[in-house]
Amino acid sequence: MAKIDKSFVKVRNLKKYFQTGTQIPFLKKPPAVKAVENVSFDVFKGETLGVVGESGCGKSTVARLLIQLIKPDAGEIIIDGLAVEKRGGISTRDLRHRMQMVFQDSYATLNPRMPIEESIAFGPISNGKKPSEAMLESKHFMDQVGLDPNIYLHRYPHELSGGQRQRVNIARALAMGPEVIILDEAVSALDKSVEAQVLNLLTDLKSDLKLTYIFISHDLNVVKYISDKVMVMYLGEVVEYGTVEDVYNSPKHPYTEALLASQPSMDPSRKLKTVPITGDPPNPINPPSGCKFHTRCPKVTDLCRTVNPKLQSTDNVDHLTACHLASNVTEVDVLNAQKGLNS
Ligand SMILES: Nc1ncnc2c1ncn2[C@@H]1O[C@H](COP(=O)(O)OP(=O)(O)O)[C@@H](O)[C@H]1O
Ligand code: SF4
Ligand SMILES: [Mg+2]
Repeated sequence: MAKIDKSFVKVRNLKKYFQTGTQIPFLKKPPAVKAVENVSFDVFKGETLGVVGESGCGKSTVARLLIQLIKPDAGEIIIDGLAVEKRGGISTRDLRHRMQMVFQDSYATLNPRMPIEESIAFGPISNGKKPSEAMLESKHFMDQVGLDPNIYLHRYPHELSGGQRQRVNIARALAMGPEVIILDEAVSALDKSVEAQVLNLLTDLKSDLKLTYIFISHDLNVVKYISDKVMVMYLGEVVEYGTVEDVYNSPKHPYTEALLASQPSMDPSRKLKTVPITGDPPNPINPPSGCKFHTRCPKVTDLCRTVNPKLQSTDNVDHLTACHLASNVTEVDVLNAQKGLNS
């Protein structure tokens, strides 16, 4: 991929299958959900990478793998040049100092019996900070996320609105002093006006604290607003990656085109050139052969049914896509793939 050596978060060939059911001795393994397959991407320091795709395409699994809440079956995660959980690399403990995550459900992530002050101080105290010092710093982090400590310091989660609770979750992440924050549908449950306030807060924090974000959302408008780069996922794979301008203005993958066409627009003059996406994605336990999008793609050819296109540069080296229409697959590739299917 482009600019390989300067990336702050570098992910290569990440794979995660979830086993379904329990294995009965001497019987065939139960089928696995192919949640993430061969996922590679880079995030550069100070950048926001937006991750989009329909529900179930593997966005949260990538996030959970990045922060080591679950272990990958294969692949490499490199943070600032250090391989995660590899000899001479970075341990999960150190990784979580440098990378924090904010989830969609603002209530579930907070202890209902803990006042906000303690909730924010909890992480630093667990990491050895003196409780009096951590409690004092809680006020500073509350200020930083726009919550008045004089009013909210001793309140409990149920005494706050959804937007306020999400501000507390952002303060909890900041209290760990991270360089990267993964936001997994972090604003999706908020009312539109509150969502806009939290997005503005995130933008300000990013420039004030020189943060790097991985921003996961099913909402393409929100991703466009906050991101520098965008990665589009389909059935566990990356199908397009590039700057927001390139991907939104000249999408290269038919799935991205269809997703963009599915976005509601307030502009009546906007004419749809592409048919919006219809139907549900196929079952990730048994994904289609070849290009996984071929069962829904209006541009499908015979080649697409047998050969899975690789993610590669388009006419622009920094704009990548996994579609045969944007690349040159040789006859040899086709024959090899057909041999594989027939054997
Ligand atoms: N712990 C799990 N066990 C089994 N399947 C899972 C598990 N977590 C996620 N999945 C499956 O993996 C796929 C990707 O899920 P997820 O990463 O949550 O998607 P997204 O965040 O894009 O909606 C889905 O088919 C989901 O049902
Ligand atoms: S490879 Fe074929 S099926 Fe897949 S997106 Fe491109 S044209 Fe459509
Ligand atoms: Mg998710």
